[in-house]
Amino acid sequence: MDEIKQERKEMEKMLRGNGERPDRSLGITRRTFLHRSLLAGAGSVAAYGWFPLVNTLDFALGAQAPFRFAWISDNHLYPKDVNTRFVDKTVRAVKDVQAMNPAPDFLIHGGDLAQLGDPVELDLGASILKELKIRRVHIPGEHDWYLDMGQKWTSMFGQPNWTFDHKGVRFVGLDTVSRGPDYWTAKKMSPKERMGHMATLDGSVAGAWAGVGRDQLEWLGRTLSSWGKDQPVVVFSHNPLYEYYPPWNFWVRDWREVHEVLKPYSNVTNIHGHTHQVLYNEIGKMRSIGMLATSWPWPYAPEGVPALTKCMVRVDPGDFFDGVGWSRLTMNAAAKIENQYMMWRQDVFADSEVDSGCADNVNQVLHPRVADREWPYYGGYK
Ligand SMILES: [Fe+2]
Ligand SMILES: [Fe+2]
Repeated sequence: MDEIKQERKEMEKMLRGNGERPDRSLGITRRTFLHRSLLAGAGSVAAYGWFPLVNTLDFALGAQAPFRFAWISDNHLYPKDVNTRFVDKTVRAVKDVQAMNPAPDFLIHGGDLAQLGDPVELDLGASILKELKIRRVHIPGEHDWYLDMGQKWTSMFGQPNWTFDHKGVRFVGLDTVSRGPDYWTAKKMSPKERMGHMATLDGSVAGAWAGVGRDQLEWLGRTLSSWGKDQPVVVFSHNPLYEYYPPWNFWVRDWREVHEVLKPYSNVTNIHGHTHQVLYNEIGKMRSIGMLATSWPWPYAPEGVPALTKCMVRVDPGDFFDGVGWSRLTMNAAAKIENQYMMWRQDVFADSEVDSGCADNVNQVLHPRVADREWPYYGGYK
């Protein structure tokens, strides 16, 4: 076994303990609605026709009372004179949340409100979100941050990391975007150039910018130390707290340390944005759920997707509202939370592999060297 494999095996052993999984009482049920044409067709075709019109995850949290909250993120707003399509979709999400009955206790905005961190974009987003009369909490995305290093964003929305307790659940908002390595000073980039590199999908210039950072890890540890080990914890982050696809920063580079801090807690759910797609993952006792964007559904990695991934059916290019949306999270009377993807999808006539959005790369294992290339730099970030 080579060194990397050995290291990963040891990491897996350490994180998972003796076959640990999320508490079995947190039974997951998954309801998937298939298009009627696929139901009629049956057979192996359905494997590729799978798509999550509504995908619900239920799990017990042991909270004190039922409540609901909503998630909106990844609006990527341009100034109105450039593009109103994303504005329309953000307005629709806000109206949907407004129409929830009973009203949600709060809205979490998961970042990437703006496209290029432009004050006009951030002000536009804030003016749309202001229509919601419920409590709002925010975490930043990289598109909000790198024009002025978060100055405008923090002046509008406050500290990028925070915590509060609500009806028996400890909620934590993490800042996973502000600690990118300095790729701009030596190259004498203007703020707009810096932001431009951050706004591209691949990290060839900006590098492994997503991270939690030593100071925030310590803050997280302190924050949780007063909380019972079996009490529910929900951690919001813009980037996923595990390694899904590092070249696009679909991870935080110090995810192993994050798990070390969270490991003693038996009921942790991470809810994240940035990936713009339906995602679910478990590591040890922690689960992660990826949220939809309101702007556009993300493409899949060109090298393929991890084995067993079920790709979203490709969106209808004639329907701007297809494949995107927001999320409704409900804690019911049985102390269970349901995550419901509110995807604005109409009928999709998909009946073959090529319609899956993964093209012919379905279920390939990602090239391990992609992540490993980041490894030597890993210890150097703060
Ligand atoms: Fe985004
Ligand atoms: Fe993002």
